[in-house]
Amino acid sequence: MTAKTKTTMTPEKLRSSRWFEAGDFRSFNHRSRMMQNGYAIEEWKGKPIIAIVNTWSDLNACHGHFKARVEDVKRGILMAGGFPVEIPTLTLYETIVKPSAMLYRNLLAIEVEEMARCHPLDGLVLMGGCDKTVPGLLMGATSAGLPSIFVPAGPMLRGIHKGEFLGSGSDAFKAWDEFRAGEITREELDGVCDGIARSYGTCMTMGTASTMALVTEALGMVLPGASSIPAVDANHQRMCSDSGRRIVDMVWEDVTPDKIMTRSAFINAITTAMAIGCSTNAIIHIIAQARRAGHNISLDDFEAASRTVPVVANIRPNGTSKYLMEDFYYAGGTKALLNRIRDYLDLNQLTVSGKTLGDNISGAMVYHDDVIRPLDNPIYKEGGLAVLKGNLAPDGCVIKVSACSPKFHKHTGPAIVFDSYPEFKKVVDSDDFDVTEDHILILRNAGPKGGPGMPEWGMLPIPTKLVKQGVKDMLRISDARMSGTSYGACVLHVSPEAYIGGPLALVETGDTISIDVAARALTLNVSAEELQQRRERWTQPAPRFGRGYGYIYSQHVNQAHTGCDFDCLESSFGTNPQEPDIF
Ligand code: FES
Repeated sequence: MTAKTKTTMTPEKLRSSRWFEAGDFRSFNHRSRMMQNGYAIEEWKGKPIIAIVNTWSDLNACHGHFKARVEDVKRGILMAGGFPVEIPTLTLYETIVKPSAMLYRNLLAIEVEEMARCHPLDGLVLMGGCDKTVPGLLMGATSAGLPSIFVPAGPMLRGIHKGEFLGSGSDAFKAWDEFRAGEITREELDGVCDGIARSYGTCMTMGTASTMALVTEALGMVLPGASSIPAVDANHQRMCSDSGRRIVDMVWEDVTPDKIMTRSAFINAITTAMAIGCSTNAIIHIIAQARRAGHNISLDDFEAASRTVPVVANIRPNGTSKYLMEDFYYAGGTKALLNRIRDYLDLNQLTVSGKTLGDNISGAMVYHDDVIRPLDNPIYKEGGLAVLKGNLAPDGCVIKVSACSPKFHKHTGPAIVFDSYPEFKKVVDSDDFDVTEDHILILRNAGPKGGPGMPEWGMLPIPTKLVKQGVKDMLRISDARMSGTSYGACVLHVSPEAYIGGPLALVETGDTISIDVAARALTLNVSAEELQQRRERWTQPAPRFGRGYGYIYSQHVNQAHTGCDFDCLESSFGTNPQEPDIF
Protein backbone atom coordinates (compact mmCIF):
# COMPACT_ATOMS: atom_id res chain seq x y z
CA MET A 1 0.00 0.00 0.00
CA THR A 2 1.39 3.42 -0.80
CA ALA A 3 0.78 6.57 1.16
CA LYS A 4 0.55 8.69 -2.01
CA THR A 5 -0.91 12.00 -1.00
CA LYS A 6 -3.57 13.94 -2.90
CA THR A 7 -3.26 17.31 -4.55
CA THR A 8 -4.68 19.77 -2.05
CA MET A 9 -3.02 23.05 -2.98
CA THR A 10 -4.24 25.53 -5.61
CA PRO A 11 -2.39 28.48 -7.17
CA GLU A 12 -4.55 30.90 -5.16
CA LYS A 13 -3.68 29.15 -1.90
CA LEU A 14 0.07 29.17 -2.48
CA ARG A 15 1.84 30.97 0.32
CA SER A 16 3.79 33.06 -2.18
CA SER A 17 0.58 34.39 -3.73
CA ARG A 18 0.03 36.46 -0.56
CA TRP A 19 3.05 38.52 -1.55
CA PHE A 20 2.06 39.04 -5.17
CA GLU A 21 -1.67 38.64 -5.68
CA ALA A 22 -3.31 40.49 -2.78
CA GLY A 23 -4.29 43.44 -4.99
CA ASP A 24 -2.88 46.05 -2.62
CA PHE A 25 0.06 48.45 -2.80
CA ARG A 26 2.41 45.97 -1.16
CA SER A 27 1.75 43.27 -3.75
CA PHE A 28 2.26 45.85 -6.51
CA ASN A 29 5.60 46.71 -4.91
CA HIS A 30 6.58 43.07 -4.49
CA ARG A 31 5.86 42.35 -8.17
CA SER A 32 7.90 45.32 -9.34
CA ARG A 33 10.85 44.25 -7.20
CA MET A 34 10.71 40.70 -8.60
CA MET A 35 10.77 42.27 -12.07
CA GLN A 36 13.85 44.24 -10.99
CA ASN A 37 15.53 40.82 -10.92
CA GLY A 38 14.68 40.38 -14.60
CA TYR A 39 11.82 37.95 -13.97
CA ALA A 40 8.65 38.31 -16.05
CA ILE A 41 5.45 37.91 -14.01
CA GLU A 42 4.39 34.82 -15.95
CA GLU A 43 7.62 33.09 -14.89
CA TRP A 44 6.40 32.79 -11.28
CA LYS A 45 2.69 33.65 -11.23
CA GLY A 46 0.63 30.73 -9.99
CA LYS A 47 3.70 28.50 -9.58
CA PRO A 48 5.28 27.16 -6.40
CA ILE A 49 8.29 29.30 -5.58
CA ILE A 50 10.99 26.96 -4.37
CA ALA A 51 14.01 28.14 -2.42
CA ILE A 52 17.15 26.12 -2.98
CA VAL A 53 18.94 26.61 0.32
CA ASN A 54 22.55 26.17 -0.69
CA THR A 55 25.38 25.72 1.79
CA TRP A 56 28.10 26.02 -0.87
CA SER A 57 31.19 28.14 -0.27
CA ASP A 58 34.69 28.39 -1.71
CA LEU A 59 35.99 27.15 1.65
CA ASN A 60 33.74 24.11 1.98
CA ALA A 61 35.14 21.27 -0.13
CA CYS A 62 32.47 18.87 1.11
CA HIS A 63 29.98 21.07 -0.76
CA GLY A 64 32.25 22.25 -3.58
CA HIS A 65 30.07 20.58 -6.23
CA PHE A 66 26.92 22.35 -4.99
CA LYS A 67 27.87 25.38 -7.08
CA ALA A 68 27.15 23.24 -10.15
CA ARG A 69 24.53 20.91 -8.64
CA VAL A 70 22.23 23.80 -7.89
CA GLU A 71 21.69 24.09 -11.65
CA ASP A 72 20.51 20.46 -11.73
CA VAL A 73 18.03 21.20 -8.94
CA LYS A 74 16.80 24.30 -10.79
CA ARG A 75 16.36 22.25 -13.96
CA GLY A 76 14.15 19.79 -12.10
CA ILE A 77 12.06 22.55 -10.51
CA LEU A 78 11.51 24.25 -13.88
CA MET A 79 10.61 20.94 -15.55
CA ALA A 80 7.92 20.34 -12.93
CA GLY A 81 6.43 23.81 -13.30
CA GLY A 82 7.93 25.51 -10.26
CA PHE A 83 9.98 28.68 -9.96
CA PRO A 84 13.46 28.19 -8.43
CA VAL A 85 15.32 30.77 -6.40
CA GLU A 86 18.70 30.08 -4.84
CA ILE A 87 19.24 31.28 -1.29
CA PRO A 88 22.88 30.96 -0.20
CA THR A 89 23.09 30.28 3.50
CA LEU A 90 25.58 29.71 6.28
CA THR A 91 28.15 27.09 5.34
CA LEU A 92 29.82 24.91 7.95
CA TYR A 93 32.92 22.99 6.91
CA GLU A 94 33.49 20.64 9.81
CA THR A 95 37.26 20.44 9.59
CA ILE A 96 37.88 24.13 9.12
CA VAL A 97 35.32 25.92 11.31
CA LYS A 98 36.65 26.75 14.78
CA PRO A 99 36.21 26.36 17.67
CA SER A 100 33.58 23.86 16.49
CA ALA A 101 31.02 23.72 13.69
CA MET A 102 28.59 22.57 16.38
CA LEU A 103 28.65 26.09 17.80
CA TYR A 104 26.94 27.24 14.59
CA ARG A 105 24.45 24.39 13.95
CA ASN A 106 21.72 26.30 15.75
CA LEU A 107 22.64 29.53 13.93
CA LEU A 108 22.18 27.74 10.60
CA ALA A 109 18.83 26.43 11.82
CA ILE A 110 17.75 29.93 12.79
CA GLU A 111 18.83 31.30 9.42
CA VAL A 112 16.93 28.65 7.45
CA GLU A 113 13.77 29.11 9.52
CA GLU A 114 13.80 32.89 9.31
CA MET A 115 14.73 33.04 5.61
CA ALA A 116 11.88 30.66 4.87
CA ARG A 117 9.43 32.62 6.97
CA CYS A 118 10.22 36.11 5.71
CA HIS A 119 10.31 35.36 1.98
CA PRO A 120 7.57 34.46 -0.54
CA LEU A 121 8.39 30.75 -0.58
CA ASP A 122 6.28 27.63 -0.97
CA GLY A 123 8.88 24.89 -0.61
CA LEU A 124 12.53 24.27 0.25
CA VAL A 125 15.31 22.18 -1.25
CA LEU A 126 17.95 21.78 1.44
CA MET A 127 21.46 21.26 0.04
CA GLY A 128 23.80 20.03 2.75
CA GLY A 129 25.94 17.14 3.84
CA CYS A 130 28.95 18.17 5.89
CA ASP A 131 28.18 17.12 9.47
CA LYS A 132 26.26 19.96 11.13
CA THR A 133 24.67 21.23 7.94
CA VAL A 134 22.31 18.23 7.89
CA PRO A 135 20.65 18.77 11.27
CA GLY A 136 20.96 22.56 10.95
CA LEU A 137 19.03 22.62 7.67
CA LEU A 138 16.45 20.09 8.84
CA MET A 139 15.85 21.76 12.19
CA GLY A 140 15.24 25.10 10.48
CA ALA A 141 12.96 23.57 7.86
CA THR A 142 11.02 21.71 10.55
CA SER A 143 10.30 24.92 12.41
CA ALA A 144 9.48 26.79 9.20
CA GLY A 145 6.95 24.09 8.34
CA LEU A 146 7.17 24.42 4.53
CA PRO A 147 7.33 21.32 2.29
CA SER A 148 11.02 20.42 2.21
CA ILE A 149 13.30 17.87 0.62
CA PHE A 150 16.92 17.23 1.56
CA VAL A 151 19.64 16.86 -1.10
CA PRO A 152 22.66 15.11 0.42
CA ALA A 153 26.12 16.15 -0.79
CA GLY A 154 27.20 12.50 -1.06
CA PRO A 155 30.49 10.99 0.05
CA MET A 156 33.79 11.79 -1.64
CA LEU A 157 35.78 9.10 -3.45
CA ARG A 158 37.86 6.66 -1.42
CA GLY A 159 41.23 8.01 -0.35
CA ILE A 160 44.25 6.20 -1.74
CA HIS A 161 47.99 6.17 -1.05
CA LYS A 162 50.52 3.66 -2.41
CA GLY A 163 47.70 1.34 -3.43
CA GLU A 164 46.05 1.36 0.02
CA PHE A 165 42.57 2.82 0.48
CA LEU A 166 42.33 5.56 3.10
CA GLY A 167 39.31 6.61 5.15
CA SER A 168 38.58 10.23 6.06
CA GLY A 169 39.52 11.11 9.59
CA SER A 170 40.20 7.57 10.75
CA ASP A 171 43.33 7.06 8.62
CA ALA A 172 44.49 10.63 9.26
CA PHE A 173 44.40 9.97 13.02
CA LYS A 174 46.18 6.65 12.47
CA ALA A 175 48.91 8.17 10.29
CA TRP A 176 49.48 10.97 12.78
CA ASP A 177 49.89 8.45 15.62
CA GLU A 178 52.32 6.42 13.51
CA PHE A 179 54.29 9.60 12.79
CA ARG A 180 54.38 10.48 16.51
CA ALA A 181 55.61 6.97 17.29
CA GLY A 182 58.39 7.32 14.70
CA GLU A 183 56.94 4.49 12.64
CA ILE A 184 56.54 6.54 9.43
CA THR A 185 58.49 9.42 7.91
CA ARG A 186 57.33 12.98 7.25
CA GLU A 187 57.32 12.14 3.54
CA GLU A 188 54.98 9.21 4.20
CA LEU A 189 52.70 11.44 6.28
CA ASP A 190 52.58 14.00 3.48
CA GLY A 191 51.62 11.22 1.05
CA VAL A 192 48.60 10.42 3.21
CA CYS A 193 47.74 14.14 3.24
CA ASP A 194 47.85 14.16 -0.60
CA GLY A 195 45.69 11.06 -1.04
CA ILE A 196 43.10 11.10 1.70
CA ALA A 197 40.68 13.68 0.26
CA ARG A 198 40.56 13.31 -3.53
CA SER A 199 37.23 14.80 -4.59
CA TYR A 200 34.37 17.03 -3.54
CA GLY A 201 31.94 15.33 -1.17
CA THR A 202 31.65 14.45 2.48
CA CYS A 203 33.90 12.20 4.56
CA MET A 204 33.59 8.68 3.12
CA THR A 205 33.88 6.82 6.41
CA MET A 206 30.78 6.15 8.53
CA GLY A 207 31.35 9.50 10.24
CA THR A 208 28.77 12.08 11.13
CA ALA A 209 28.10 13.15 7.53
CA SER A 210 27.43 9.62 6.23
CA THR A 211 25.50 8.77 9.36
CA MET A 212 23.26 11.82 9.13
CA ALA A 213 22.65 11.32 5.39
CA LEU A 214 21.54 7.71 5.88
CA VAL A 215 19.50 8.57 8.93
CA THR A 216 17.78 11.36 7.00
CA GLU A 217 16.77 8.87 4.32
CA ALA A 218 15.37 6.54 7.00
CA LEU A 219 13.53 9.54 8.43
CA GLY A 220 11.89 10.02 5.05
CA MET A 221 13.34 13.41 4.05
CA VAL A 222 15.56 12.18 1.17
CA LEU A 223 14.59 10.52 -2.11
CA PRO A 224 15.04 6.71 -2.04
CA GLY A 225 18.69 5.72 -2.38
CA ALA A 226 19.92 9.33 -2.59
CA SER A 227 21.92 9.34 0.62
CA SER A 228 24.72 7.03 -0.47
CA ILE A 229 25.39 8.24 -4.04
CA PRO A 230 29.01 9.43 -4.31
CA ALA A 231 29.27 13.18 -4.81
CA VAL A 232 30.97 12.93 -8.19
CA ASP A 233 28.78 10.15 -9.67
CA ALA A 234 26.48 11.24 -12.51
CA ASN A 235 23.65 9.65 -10.55
CA HIS A 236 24.15 12.45 -8.06
CA GLN A 237 23.28 15.05 -10.71
CA ARG A 238 20.18 13.12 -11.70
CA MET A 239 19.18 12.82 -8.05
CA CYS A 240 19.45 16.61 -7.72
CA SER A 241 17.17 17.10 -10.71
CA ASP A 242 14.75 14.47 -9.35
CA SER A 243 14.65 16.28 -6.03
CA GLY A 244 13.85 19.54 -7.83
CA ARG A 245 10.97 17.89 -9.67
CA ARG A 246 9.66 16.21 -6.55
CA ILE A 247 9.56 19.31 -4.33
CA VAL A 248 7.15 20.98 -6.74
CA ASP A 249 4.75 18.05 -6.41
CA MET A 250 5.22 18.09 -2.66
CA VAL A 251 3.98 21.68 -2.57
CA TRP A 252 0.88 20.81 -4.60
CA GLU A 253 0.31 17.79 -2.34
CA ASP A 254 0.95 19.93 0.77
CA VAL A 255 3.43 17.41 2.16
CA THR A 256 4.78 19.39 5.10
CA PRO A 257 7.61 18.10 7.33
CA ASP A 258 5.25 17.23 10.20
CA LYS A 259 3.55 14.65 7.98
CA ILE A 260 6.88 12.88 7.44
CA MET A 261 8.82 13.42 10.65
CA THR A 262 6.56 11.51 13.03
CA ARG A 263 7.74 9.84 16.21
CA SER A 264 7.82 6.50 14.38
CA ALA A 265 9.97 8.05 11.65
CA PHE A 266 12.45 9.17 14.30
CA ILE A 267 12.51 5.66 15.76
CA ASN A 268 13.27 4.41 12.23
CA ALA A 269 16.12 6.94 12.13
CA ILE A 270 17.49 5.66 15.45
CA THR A 271 17.17 2.04 14.34
CA THR A 272 19.10 2.84 11.17
CA ALA A 273 21.73 4.73 13.15
CA MET A 274 22.32 1.60 15.23
CA ALA A 275 22.50 -0.69 12.19
CA ILE A 276 25.21 1.43 10.59
CA GLY A 277 27.37 1.82 13.71
CA CYS A 278 26.62 5.51 13.68
CA SER A 279 28.62 8.51 14.70
CA THR A 280 27.99 9.45 18.33
CA ASN A 281 27.04 12.92 17.10
CA ALA A 282 23.86 11.43 15.61
CA ILE A 283 22.43 11.06 19.09
CA ILE A 284 22.54 14.79 19.76
CA HIS A 285 21.24 15.73 16.31
CA ILE A 286 18.36 13.25 16.16
CA ILE A 287 17.16 14.29 19.62
CA ALA A 288 17.35 17.98 18.64
CA GLN A 289 15.47 17.39 15.37
CA ALA A 290 12.79 15.35 17.12
CA ARG A 291 12.23 18.01 19.75
CA ARG A 292 11.89 20.62 16.99
CA ALA A 293 9.21 18.38 15.49
CA GLY A 294 7.47 18.10 18.87
CA HIS A 295 8.48 14.53 19.69
CA ASN A 296 10.10 13.58 22.97
CA ILE A 297 12.93 11.36 21.81
CA SER A 298 15.52 10.67 24.50
CA LEU A 299 18.67 8.69 25.22
CA ASP A 300 16.39 5.88 26.39
CA ASP A 301 15.17 5.40 22.80
CA PHE A 302 18.77 4.98 21.66
CA GLU A 303 19.51 2.58 24.49
CA ALA A 304 16.44 0.48 23.62
CA ALA A 305 17.47 0.27 19.94
CA SER A 306 21.05 -0.42 20.92
CA ARG A 307 19.99 -3.53 22.81
CA THR A 308 18.24 -5.08 19.81
CA VAL A 309 19.57 -3.80 16.48
CA PRO A 310 22.76 -5.42 15.11
CA VAL A 311 25.44 -3.41 13.30
CA VAL A 312 25.35 -4.68 9.71
CA ALA A 313 27.08 -1.86 7.77
CA ASN A 314 30.72 -2.92 7.75
CA ILE A 315 32.22 0.51 7.16
CA ARG A 316 35.23 2.15 8.80
CA PRO A 317 35.76 3.18 11.58
CA ASN A 318 33.67 0.29 12.90
CA GLY A 319 35.41 -2.93 13.85
CA THR A 320 38.31 -3.75 11.59
CA SER A 321 36.49 -2.88 8.41
CA LYS A 322 38.38 -2.08 5.22
CA TYR A 323 35.28 -0.72 3.45
CA LEU A 324 34.23 2.86 2.80
CA MET A 325 31.08 4.61 1.56
CA GLU A 326 31.94 4.03 -2.10
CA ASP A 327 31.94 0.28 -1.35
CA PHE A 328 28.63 0.72 0.48
CA TYR A 329 27.06 2.33 -2.60
CA TYR A 330 28.28 -0.43 -4.90
CA ALA A 331 26.97 -3.01 -2.40
CA GLY A 332 23.44 -1.68 -2.87
CA GLY A 333 23.56 1.47 -0.77
CA THR A 334 21.00 2.79 1.67
CA LYS A 335 17.94 1.15 0.11
CA ALA A 336 19.59 -2.26 0.35
CA LEU A 337 20.62 -1.65 3.95
CA LEU A 338 17.12 -0.52 4.94
CA ASN A 339 15.60 -3.52 3.20
CA ARG A 340 17.96 -5.78 5.11
CA ILE A 341 16.82 -4.35 8.47
CA ARG A 342 13.18 -3.97 7.36
CA ASP A 343 11.87 -6.15 10.22
CA TYR A 344 13.10 -3.50 12.68
CA LEU A 345 11.45 -0.58 10.83
CA ASP A 346 7.96 0.89 10.66
CA LEU A 347 7.52 0.60 6.90
CA ASN A 348 4.26 2.56 6.77
CA GLN A 349 5.87 5.95 7.29
CA LEU A 350 5.35 8.55 4.57
CA THR A 351 8.47 9.88 2.85
CA VAL A 352 9.27 12.76 0.49
CA SER A 353 8.80 10.41 -2.47
CA GLY A 354 5.07 10.43 -1.66
CA LYS A 355 5.33 6.72 -0.95
CA THR A 356 5.96 4.79 2.24
CA LEU A 357 9.39 3.76 3.42
CA GLY A 358 8.36 0.18 2.69
CA ASP A 359 7.53 1.01 -0.94
CA ASN A 360 10.80 2.90 -1.33
CA ILE A 361 12.97 -0.04 -0.33
CA SER A 362 10.91 -2.90 -1.72
CA GLY A 363 13.09 -5.34 -3.67
CA ALA A 364 16.36 -3.50 -2.97
CA MET A 365 19.19 -6.04 -3.19
CA VAL A 366 22.49 -6.36 -1.35
CA TYR A 367 25.33 -7.11 -3.79
CA HIS A 368 28.16 -7.59 -1.29
CA ASP A 369 27.42 -9.46 1.92
CA ASP A 370 30.65 -8.45 3.61
CA VAL A 371 29.87 -4.73 3.22
CA ILE A 372 26.21 -4.96 4.22
CA ARG A 373 26.22 -8.01 6.44
CA PRO A 374 23.31 -10.46 6.84
CA LEU A 375 21.43 -10.11 10.13
CA ASP A 376 22.82 -13.44 11.30
CA ASN A 377 26.41 -12.37 10.63
CA PRO A 378 26.65 -8.77 11.87
CA ILE A 379 29.89 -7.03 12.73
CA TYR A 380 28.42 -6.34 16.15
CA LYS A 381 25.51 -8.22 17.66
CA GLU A 382 23.97 -5.22 19.39
CA GLY A 383 23.86 -1.57 18.37
CA GLY A 384 27.23 0.12 18.20
CA LEU A 385 26.44 2.69 20.88
CA ALA A 386 25.80 2.32 24.57
CA VAL A 387 24.22 4.89 26.88
CA LEU A 388 25.87 4.84 30.31
CA LYS A 389 24.58 6.36 33.53
CA GLY A 390 25.86 6.62 37.08
CA ASN A 391 27.00 9.14 39.66
CA LEU A 392 29.44 10.64 37.15
CA ALA A 393 26.76 11.14 34.50
CA PRO A 394 23.29 11.23 36.10
CA ASP A 395 21.68 12.35 32.82
CA GLY A 396 23.73 9.99 30.71
CA CYS A 397 26.74 9.77 28.44
CA VAL A 398 27.64 7.61 25.44
CA ILE A 399 30.38 5.30 24.21
CA LYS A 400 30.81 3.86 20.72
CA VAL A 401 31.44 0.26 21.71
CA SER A 402 31.78 -0.93 18.13
CA ALA A 403 34.87 1.24 17.68
CA CYS A 404 36.74 0.70 20.93
CA SER A 405 38.99 -1.96 22.36
CA PRO A 406 36.88 -4.64 24.15
CA LYS A 407 39.23 -4.58 27.14
CA PHE A 408 37.77 -1.19 28.08
CA HIS A 409 34.19 -2.43 28.13
CA LYS A 410 34.88 -3.19 31.80
CA HIS A 411 37.69 -1.28 33.46
CA THR A 412 38.66 0.55 36.63
CA GLY A 413 41.52 3.02 36.72
CA PRO A 414 42.85 6.22 38.26
CA ALA A 415 41.80 9.55 36.72
CA ILE A 416 44.07 12.26 35.39
CA VAL A 417 42.02 15.45 35.14
CA PHE A 418 42.39 18.33 32.67
CA ASP A 419 40.28 21.47 32.97
CA SER A 420 40.89 22.48 29.37
CA TYR A 421 42.25 21.15 26.10
CA PRO A 422 45.28 23.53 26.10
CA GLU A 423 46.19 22.15 29.55
CA PHE A 424 46.18 18.62 28.08
CA LYS A 425 48.17 19.69 25.02
CA LYS A 426 50.99 20.94 27.25
CA VAL A 427 51.72 17.42 28.53
CA VAL A 428 50.59 15.06 25.77
CA ASP A 429 54.01 14.86 24.09
CA SER A 430 56.09 14.94 27.27
CA ASP A 431 58.21 11.94 28.26
CA ASP A 432 57.71 13.05 31.89
CA PHE A 433 53.91 12.72 31.71
CA ASP A 434 53.11 10.27 34.53
CA VAL A 435 50.58 8.10 32.70
CA THR A 436 49.96 4.42 31.92
CA GLU A 437 47.46 2.75 29.63
CA ASP A 438 45.33 1.94 32.70
CA HIS A 439 44.86 5.60 33.58
CA ILE A 440 41.65 7.38 32.58
CA LEU A 441 42.08 10.78 30.96
CA ILE A 442 39.40 13.31 31.91
CA LEU A 443 38.69 16.45 29.90
CA ARG A 444 36.06 18.84 31.27
CA ASN A 445 34.59 22.28 30.58
CA ALA A 446 34.21 21.23 26.93
CA GLY A 447 30.43 20.75 26.96
CA PRO A 448 27.56 22.69 25.38
CA LYS A 449 27.95 25.78 27.59
CA GLY A 450 31.54 25.29 28.71
CA GLY A 451 33.10 24.71 25.26
CA PRO A 452 30.92 26.35 24.28
CA GLY A 453 29.54 24.20 21.50
CA MET A 454 30.99 20.85 22.57
CA PRO A 455 34.11 20.79 20.39
CA GLU A 456 35.18 17.39 19.03
CA TRP A 457 37.93 17.02 21.60
CA GLY A 458 36.61 13.79 23.14
CA MET A 459 39.10 11.50 21.37
CA LEU A 460 42.02 12.89 23.34
CA PRO A 461 45.22 11.75 21.63
CA ILE A 462 46.98 8.85 23.35
CA PRO A 463 50.01 10.40 25.09
CA THR A 464 53.06 10.15 22.82
CA LYS A 465 55.00 8.26 25.49
CA LEU A 466 52.37 5.48 25.36
CA VAL A 467 52.09 5.56 21.56
CA LYS A 468 55.81 4.80 21.43
CA GLN A 469 55.16 1.79 23.70
CA GLY A 470 52.58 0.51 21.20
CA VAL A 471 49.48 1.54 23.16
CA LYS A 472 46.56 1.93 20.73
CA ASP A 473 43.65 2.64 23.08
CA MET A 474 42.89 3.91 26.58
CA LEU A 475 39.83 5.15 28.41
CA ARG A 476 38.99 8.83 28.01
CA ILE A 477 35.98 10.62 29.53
CA SER A 478 34.71 14.10 28.68
CA ASP A 479 31.70 16.34 28.28
CA ALA A 480 32.90 17.02 24.72
CA ARG A 481 31.95 15.20 21.48
CA MET A 482 34.23 13.35 19.08
CA SER A 483 34.31 13.19 15.31
CA GLY A 484 32.24 10.41 13.79
CA THR A 485 35.43 9.24 12.11
CA SER A 486 37.14 8.85 15.48
CA TYR A 487 37.55 5.63 17.38
CA GLY A 488 38.72 4.36 20.72
CA ALA A 489 37.44 3.99 24.28
CA CYS A 490 35.99 7.49 24.56
CA VAL A 491 33.10 8.21 26.89
CA LEU A 492 31.44 11.36 25.57
CA HIS A 493 28.62 13.87 26.17
CA VAL A 494 28.74 13.49 29.97
CA SER A 495 25.62 15.23 31.19
CA PRO A 496 25.19 17.48 33.04
CA GLU A 497 28.45 19.07 31.89
CA ALA A 498 31.22 20.23 34.23
CA TYR A 499 30.76 23.94 33.42
CA ILE A 500 27.39 24.00 35.16
CA GLY A 501 28.61 21.94 38.10
CA GLY A 502 27.88 18.41 36.87
CA PRO A 503 29.74 15.66 38.80
CA LEU A 504 32.53 15.69 36.19
CA ALA A 505 33.54 19.03 37.72
CA LEU A 506 34.21 17.29 41.04
CA VAL A 507 36.64 14.59 39.90
CA GLU A 508 40.19 14.92 41.19
CA THR A 509 43.35 13.38 39.78
CA GLY A 510 43.86 10.04 41.51
CA ASP A 511 40.15 9.25 42.02
CA THR A 512 39.24 5.89 40.54
CA ILE A 513 36.47 5.50 37.98
CA SER A 514 34.78 2.28 36.87
CA ILE A 515 33.13 1.59 33.54
CA ASP A 516 30.93 -1.45 32.88
CA VAL A 517 29.39 -1.31 29.42
CA ALA A 518 27.33 -4.48 29.90
CA ALA A 519 25.76 -2.93 33.01
CA ARG A 520 25.60 0.48 31.25
CA ALA A 521 27.32 2.00 34.30
CA LEU A 522 29.90 4.73 34.82
CA THR A 523 30.88 5.21 38.46
CA LEU A 524 33.11 7.69 40.24
CA ASN A 525 34.37 5.75 43.26
CA VAL A 526 34.08 8.64 45.70
CA SER A 527 31.57 8.83 48.55
CA ALA A 528 28.51 11.06 48.32
CA GLU A 529 29.69 12.96 51.40
CA GLU A 530 33.08 13.72 49.87
CA LEU A 531 31.43 14.81 46.62
CA GLN A 532 29.13 17.15 48.54
CA GLN A 533 32.14 18.78 50.24
CA ARG A 534 33.83 19.22 46.86
CA ARG A 535 30.62 20.71 45.44
CA GLU A 536 30.57 23.35 48.17
CA ARG A 537 34.14 24.35 47.23
CA TRP A 538 33.47 24.38 43.45
CA THR A 539 33.26 27.66 41.51
CA GLN A 540 32.16 28.05 37.91
CA PRO A 541 34.93 28.87 35.40
CA ALA A 542 34.83 32.26 33.68
CA PRO A 543 32.70 32.29 30.50
CA ARG A 544 34.70 32.02 27.27
CA PHE A 545 32.55 34.56 25.42
CA GLY A 546 31.66 37.90 27.01
CA ARG A 547 29.61 39.13 24.06
CA GLY A 548 28.18 38.24 20.67
CA TYR A 549 26.90 34.93 19.34
CA GLY A 550 29.10 32.84 21.66
CA TYR A 551 27.50 34.61 24.62
CA ILE A 552 23.97 34.11 23.26
CA TYR A 553 24.81 30.45 22.63
CA SER A 554 25.99 29.85 26.20
CA GLN A 555 22.87 31.54 27.59
CA HIS A 556 20.41 29.43 25.64
CA VAL A 557 21.93 26.06 24.72
CA ASN A 558 20.44 22.96 26.32
CA GLN A 559 22.42 20.01 27.68
CA ALA A 560 23.70 17.19 25.48
CA HIS A 561 21.09 14.63 26.54
CA THR A 562 18.37 16.94 25.20
CA GLY A 563 20.11 17.71 21.90
CA CYS A 564 21.89 21.06 22.45
CA ASP A 565 19.21 23.13 20.77
CA PHE A 566 18.46 26.60 22.14
CA ASP A 567 15.72 26.53 24.76
CA CYS A 568 13.72 29.17 22.83
CA LEU A 569 13.90 27.25 19.53
CA GLU A 570 12.33 24.02 20.70
CA SER A 571 8.71 23.51 19.68
CA SER A 572 7.63 23.29 23.32
CA PHE A 573 8.89 26.83 24.09
CA GLY A 574 6.09 28.75 22.41
CA THR A 575 4.60 29.71 19.05
CA ASN A 576 5.21 32.29 16.36
CA PRO A 577 2.50 34.70 15.19
CA GLN A 578 0.12 33.21 12.64
CA GLU A 579 1.36 33.98 9.15
CA PRO A 580 -1.36 36.46 8.08
CA ASP A 581 -0.19 38.68 10.94
CA ILE A 582 3.03 39.21 9.03
CA PHE A 583 1.26 41.21 6.34
FE1 FES B 1 32.75 17.62 5.76
FE2 FES B 1 33.82 15.46 7.08
S1 FES B 1 34.64 17.48 6.86
S2 FES B 1 31.91 15.66 6.10
